Amino acid sequence: MGILDRFSLQGRVALITAGAGPLFGSSLSEALAEAGATVITASRSLQRNEDFAARLRDKGHDAYGLQFDISDCHSITELKEQVLSQFGRLDILVNSALARDGHVGSIGEQKADQCMASASGDFSGLFEICRQFVEPMIDQGCGSMINISSIYGVVSNDPNLYEGTEMKQPPTYNFVKAGMINYTRYLACYYGKYGVRANCISPGGYFANQPQPFLERYEQRVPLGRMMDNDDIQGAVVFLASDASRYVTGANLMVDGGWTCS
Ligand SMILES: NC(=O)c1ccc[n+]([C@@H]2O[C@H](COP(=O)([O-])OP(=O)(O)OC[C@H]3O[C@@H](n4cnc5c(N)ncnc54)[C@H](O)[C@@H]3O)[C@@H](O)[C@H]2O)c1
Repeated sequence: MGILDRFSLQGRVALITAGAGPLFGSSLSEALAEAGATVITASRSLQRNEDFAARLRDKGHDAYGLQFDISDCHSITELKEQVLSQFGRLDILVNSALARDGHVGSIGEQKADQCMASASGDFSGLFEICRQFVEPMIDQGCGSMINISSIYGVVSNDPNLYEGTEMKQPPTYNFVKAGMINYTRYLACYYGKYGVRANCISPGGYFANQPQPFLERYEQRVPLGRMMDNDDIQGAVVFLASDASRYVTGANLMVDGGWTCS
């Protein structure tokens, strides 16, 4: 098999949580679909996922939309049952969902109970979805789990970047994203012997019309001189999902324009 063939996801089934989201979610799903995978996206709104899947089908891809809530373990079980009964297998799991509405306020504004409430939904959700979906992967003897962390799972926010803006930097986000990276290493170590790989992608900031002072400071600090756009994450997810990365597990692939180099 040639090297380009190893990037093909033909015949694979991929589930992308929050895969219909307007920022990274839809980019991740489109990339996997273009590489040949059957793509299932799922988040709280069934309509949004079905509409997005219909748009992918219009482009000639194989795509489906489902509904689930990452902070509800029963909902994860239902999602697993639905995926397995409808598609019979799962080869690729991309965890992009984040119960972001919980991550509010900066450190001076958050109390311990708020911190617990917002972080626990994401922690328990990530724990549970990996724990449940690894089962069919073990049975198949192969699978790739990809968790979407962040530069803020690796380094702290620089408070100077946000000065003079209303942008918040909730520390719970850093707890969750850092924990995700080491949980991924744990999964890699425990499930490697079954042929299941687990890796993280840690993106930098996505350009979303942030306030000008923030943008200028960000662009000045990041080696590649700009924030991320839709296409920047796509190569990384296809690489980690496919046999092109068949000896890569437990890695945290920084897709950050060099943000964490210094
Ligand atoms: N935007 C950035 O700059 C950035 C940078 C680094 C990492 N990330 C990570 O990328 C991932 C995608 O974030 P994004 O910025 O593209 O969009 P986002 O913040 O809109 O993503 C959150 C997604 O999670 C879904 N979601 C929220 N609560 C949910 C729940 N309870 N159950 C199921 N789904 C739920 C939402 O529908 C949404 O699509 C996140 O994990 C985020 O931490 C984002």
